[in-house]
Amino acid sequence: MQEKILVLDFGGQYNQLIARRVRDQHVYAELKPYNKISVEEIKAEGYKGIIFTGGPNSVYDPASPHYDPALLAAGIPLLGICYGHQLMAWMADGKIGAAGNYSEYGRVTVKHTGGVLFEGIPEESTCWMSHTDSVLELPEGFTCVASTDMCRTAAMEDPSRNLYGVQFHPEVQHTQYGKTILHNFLFNVCGCKGDWHMENYCKQAVEAIRNKVGDGKVLLALSGGVDSSVCAALLAEAIGPQLTCVFVDHGMMRKNEPEEVRMAFDGWDINFVGVDASERFLEALRGVTDPEQKRKTIGEQFIRVFEEEGKKIGSVDYLAQGTIYADVIESGAGDAATIKSHHNVGGLPDYVDFKEIIEPLRDLFKDEVRQLGRELGLPEYLVSRQPFPGPGLGIRCIGEVTRDKLDILRDADAIFREEVDKAAVAEKADCYARGEDAPAWTANQYFAVLTDTRSVGVMGDMRTYGYTVALRSVTTDDFMSADWTKLPLSMLEAAGTRIPNEVRSVSRVVYDITSKPPATVEWE
Ligand code: XMP
Repeated sequence: MQEKILVLDFGGQYNQLIARRVRDQHVYAELKPYNKISVEEIKAEGYKGIIFTGGPNSVYDPASPHYDPALLAAGIPLLGICYGHQLMAWMADGKIGAAGNYSEYGRVTVKHTGGVLFEGIPEESTCWMSHTDSVLELPEGFTCVASTDMCRTAAMEDPSRNLYGVQFHPEVQHTQYGKTILHNFLFNVCGCKGDWHMENYCKQAVEAIRNKVGDGKVLLALSGGVDSSVCAALLAEAIGPQLTCVFVDHGMMRKNEPEEVRMAFDGWDINFVGVDASERFLEALRGVTDPEQKRKTIGEQFIRVFEEEGKKIGSVDYLAQGTIYADVIESGAGDAATIKSHHNVGGLPDYVDFKEIIEPLRDLFKDEVRQLGRELGLPEYLVSRQPFPGPGLGIRCIGEVTRDKLDILRDADAIFREEVDKAAVAEKADCYARGEDAPAWTANQYFAVLTDTRSVGVMGDMRTYGYTVALRSVTTDDFMSADWTKLPLSMLEAAGTRIPNEVRSVSRVVYDITSKPPATVEWE
C-alpha cells in the first residue's frame, strides 16, 4: 500500500503548499477538508501521519473549525501547524488565547531546547510566523521545546503519543529549516520511507481517470499551453480513443499561435478538432471593460463552443480541463478570497451541459505539472513553455477588446518576447563563460499589455497620440508569488526602441516593476 500523509485543512492559505512540501520529500500527501473525514475513516485509510493546517480563526470561538479529540488517541502521529498547533493543544485541554497586544507576522528568531522535530537544527534559526493567538498553557503530557521573544510556545511535543505542534510555518520557504522539520516529522516520527515519485502519481491518475470515465467519452479543452497539453497526454494514456481534444481559437491568441498549436499536435495519435470561434468571442466581448466580466464572458463562450462540439461528437459525458492549483486558489477555493476568476474555474457559467467536469491536474503546482509532462514523454519545448492564460490577450488588452487593439498587442508582444528570448540565450552563454552555475536572471513569464492610456509622442516632427504598451516579466517557481525580472537595460532598450518604431499606434513603452503580491502576474 502506498504510504501517505493526510493534510487536514482548517482553511489556511498555505494548505496545498503543505501537501506540496510533503510530496517534495517523496511522501504522498492528500489534502482533505476537516469536516469531510471522520476519525474512523482516517484510521481505515492507514495514514502514516496527519498534519493540521493553519487557519484564520481563533480556537476559542465556538464557530471556529474543531475536530474530534478522539483522534489524539488514535495512535497516528500528528503535527499541528499554527492554528493546527493551537487546535491540537485545545483538543488536549491546553489554554489558548491572545497574549497581551502582540501579533507576530513575518520573520522571527526561534530558539529551541531540543525536541524531535529540531534534530539537526541550530539552536537559533529564522522562521515565518503569522499569528495573534498562542498556546498559553501547555496541555498535560506536553513539553515546550521552542520559543521566540514574543511567543512562549513556538513548538511543543508529546513524543509518547507522537503529538507535535509548531506555531510557525515550516512549509514556507522563509522558514530556514522548515524542510528539516518536516523531514524529521515524516521520516523520524511517522517512519515514512519516501518512495513516492511522479511516476506513481502518473499511474494513480491514469487509474483514477479510467475508473471514473469507464467507457464514456471525454472532450478536452486544449489550448496548447503546458497545463492542457499535459492533461491531453495524461488522458490519452488513460483512455486513448475515447478522448477528443478541442482547440478553440478565440481570436485572442498570440502571434502565429493557432498555427503553432495545430502543428504541435499534428503528429499525435489523438482525435483533434480545431474551431475558429474568434467572431463569436469578439462579438460577446463588445462593450465589456470590467476585468471580471471579461473573464466570465470568455469562460461562458468557451463552454458554449465545447457543448456544441460535444453534440457533434455525440454522447460526450465529460468535459476535461487542465486546471491547476493556482487557478483554483486564485478563483477563491474554500475559505480563500477570490483574486480573479480563472476562466476554467470561477469563470464557468452556472449551467454547463456535461455530466461532469474532470480536472486531473487540480492538485498540482506548475512545476509539478511540468514534471508530470516529462514523465509522460512530452517534448521539452511543450513542457517548458511559458504559461498563457485561457482568456488569452483578452485580459492583456485593457478596456474594450477589439480586433484592432488585439493586432497592435500581438505585434508588440511578439517583439518583446523575441528580445527576451534573445537576451536569455546570450545570458546563458555568458554565464557559462563566467564559470557560474546559474544565469543572472530568469524570466518565467513575459508578455506585453496594451494599456488603455494614450500619450503624446513625436515622430518625424509630427505629434502622435498613441497607446502605451506595458512590458511585464516575472521570475517565479509556482506563479503563486512572483518577482519582477531584473532584465538587462540593453534588452529593455531594444524593446523600447523597436515597439514604437515597428508597431503602429504605439507612442510609449513602460516596464512593470511590481512583484506579486501586491500585483498579480496578469493585469486583469
Ligand atoms: P495571476 O495573474 O493570477 O496569474 O497572478 C498567475 C498565473 O496564472 C495564469 N492565469 C491563468 N491561467 N486561466 C489560466 O489558465 C486563467 O484564467 C488565468 N489567469 C491567469 C497567469 O498567466 C499566470 O501564469
